Amino acid sequence: MTIQVAKTAGFCFGVRNALELVEKRAAEKNGKTLYTIGPLIHNPDVVARLEGQGVKTVADVSELGAGDEAAIRAHGVGEAVYRRLEEQQVDILDATCPYVKKIHNIVREESLAGCPVIILGNPEHPEVKGIQGWCQNDCFIIQSEEDFGKLPQRKEQEICLVAQTTFNIFKFQKIVEKLREIGYNLRVFPTICKSTHEHQQEAIDLAEQVDVMIVIGGKHSSNTRKLYELCLQRCPKALYIENAQELSPEEIRSMKMEKVGITAGASTPNFIMQEVIRKMSEINTFEELLNESFKEVHS
Ligand code: F3S
Repeated sequence: MTIQVAKTAGFCFGVRNALELVEKRAAEKNGKTLYTIGPLIHNPDVVARLEGQGVKTVADVSELGAGDEAAIRAHGVGEAVYRRLEEQQVDILDATCPYVKKIHNIVREESLAGCPVIILGNPEHPEVKGIQGWCQNDCFIIQSEEDFGKLPQRKEQEICLVAQTTFNIFKFQKIVEKLREIGYNLRVFPTICKSTHEHQQEAIDLAEQVDVMIVIGGKHSSNTRKLYELCLQRCPKALYIENAQELSPEEIRSMKMEKVGITAGASTPNFIMQEVIRKMSEINTFEELLNESFKEVHS
């Protein structure tokens, strides 16, 4: 069995940056709690490790009080959350990814100049809610052509269009084309993150060459789920696992695979990937030994 790992697998720049910022600040606080609003990244192993360093997750700003310090995640938050934290005299450690911050600035400026805003993305995702929170004018969130009914009927007015950083680039191009075709006057800002695109493209290329793709990442991580779905479309088999413990040697052996590809979501740390690679190599070695002894017995 050969194992190939995608070069772009794992942490993206924004997630690595947020994690480093939070770990550094937690160490400086010397045991005093640092809060994050929502889990810093969608990976239970990392969240557990952070807890050991004094980083606690709160679900909502209302749980914080004067003198607390709270980190804002790479996904970013809306303007109202900053105001609320300031009112509650909470210190802010801003770990918003600079690429997400750029979208906040675009929608703020464009909407202040009178442009309504269309966001291509998942309305339930915190990044999209955060972007919406910087709009000062009408804001429409759509994911596909089926949502076009939500858009304003007046098409001649200029509309600013941005996308969630992890939005599928091909879908983005198709939707923009379609909107222009039906007459919308768009100012398009291609805000899809390059690292997401490269990550997805490499996973697709690898999935086309192997028998099984293993996709590692938290079950609540939307970018890992997207990677998994893309791999599943290109490869006869794909496994979605959170860590090495979820790999069953029996299941792996029963698949009789020759080529295995491994990739991981943008919130998957290196140590989890290494554990998966190690476990796959051990299963592989065991398999080879088994085959060798089988040959010896029958020769
Ligand atoms: Fe930032 Fe791109 Fe990661 S927007 S959080 S570097 S996926």
